[in-house]
Parts: sequence; C-alpha cells; structure tokens
Amino acid sequence: MSKPDKLVVGNWKMNGRRDMAVALSSAVAGQLPSGMEAAVCVPFPFLGLVGEAVAASALALGAQDVSDQEEGAFTGEVSAGMLSEFGCRFVIVGHSERRARQAETSVLVAEKAARARAAGLTPIVCVGETRDERESGQTLSVIEAQLAPVLALGGEAVGSMVIAYEPVWAIGTGLSASVEQAVEVHQAIRAAVAGLIGDRAGDVRILYGGSVKPETAAELFSAPDIDGGLIGGASLKAEDFLAICQAAV
Ligand code: 13P
Repeated sequence: MSKPDKLVVGNWKMNGRRDMAVALSSAVAGQLPSGMEAAVCVPFPFLGLVGEAVAASALALGAQDVSDQEEGAFTGEVSAGMLSEFGCRFVIVGHSERRARQAETSVLVAEKAARARAAGLTPIVCVGETRDERESGQTLSVIEAQLAPVLALGGEAVGSMVIAYEPVWAIGTGLSASVEQAVEVHQAIRAAVAGLIGDRAGDVRILYGGSVKPETAAELFSAPDIDGGLIGGASLKAEDFLAICQAAV
C-alpha cells in the first residue's frame, strides 16, 4: 500500500497584516515543491485575499478555528460553510492555545471536527500534553482522553481527518520534542485509529507540531508514523516554510 504524501501546514496564528499575508502566501505558493502537500491556515480576515493569492497553485487554504454550530445567533463565530465558501480545505480544531485560552473541551473539539467534515473540510485535530503532564508520566493517557470524543465520531469520520500531535511545552519554545518522544505518541495515535479502522489507519496523516525548524524537519519527517508537520513560527518566513516543505518531499 502506498503511503499518502506528507503534509506540511503553516499555522500563522494571530500574525500578519494584509500586505504580508499576500506576499508570504504568494511566495510560498510560487515555489512549492512537488511530491508533498502544503497548506496555510491564516487568520479569518485574510481568507479572501490569501485564497486569491494561492488559487492557481497547489498551496491549500485553511482556517484556525470553526464554530461547532451550523449558523445563527453565535456572535463572533465563523461557520464551516463560510470557510468552505472561501475556498478552505482544512481547518485546525482544538489547538492547545484555544484549549487553554478559550477553555475548549475535547467534546467541543470533536463537535467542531464533525461540523467541519459536514461542510466538506478536513479538520486538523490537535492534541498534546503539558510539561507537567509529561513529567508525571501522563502523556499517553492525556492524548487518549483528548482523542476519545473524536474517535467516537466513528471510522468514516476519523479516516478523513488529520491529527496533529503538538506537545504544549514544545510550542513556540524552540524546544522540539525529540524524534523518539514524538514517535512514541504518533505510534499510540496510530494504534488508536487502527482500533477503529484497521489498516486504513495508515492513510490518516499524523502531523508533529512544536518548534519545527528547517534544521529539524527532515529528521522528524523521516521517522516512522510522522506524516508531516504543523508549523507555527517558521511558517511566517517563506524561506523557512519552503525549506520545511522541501524536507517533506
Ligand atoms: P511553533 O512552530 O511556533 O512552535 O508552533 C507550533 C504550533 O502551535 C502550530 O500549530
């Protein structure tokens, strides 16, 4: 069975201005290597502009969050249907920054993932442990608990998602998980997905995120069960993001 191409996703978080958004996404779109897949998840106000900038390229568009509701009186929220209309293919759900700041629960995250799928989007479901959780030996049980409501959506849903392992202590700290640490969690995630869909679990891309840099990407991406990366800081420089994409070829 051939493995799916690796996937590298930039998460711009709350960074950038209009000009930068167009320049950065155009620069990446124009030089994307073939033999891998890439996307940029940009702030909501830039979806239209970046969507136009990347429209003729292989660079896919994504958002960083989505409402769990379909439409209606939900001030400040953005629906999956809106994202889809703006050309999004991907949407990040359950990023640790939202779990922490907006107190998003794993149940809500699963509801968002389901809503995204219903609109034809591919959710990128983020999971990851804090430093305290790792140091007290709870890493795998935390990941399992975060995944449980997502797995409960069923095999068909899970088979069409992307899962991102992002240890909270590695995000924005310059301190990437070691390959061994990442592989241990990726293999546990793969096994959990396989429990639901068997061999087809090999088609579900499991990304690593947390201080991925051009210098560390190739080693991570060549490790077993690491199918690409979710890139924060390094996605804000075209040169760095493209180098990471190249490492995924
Ligand atoms: P950094 O690459 O800046 O550590 O961020 C990772 C991340 O949170 C991507 O979603």
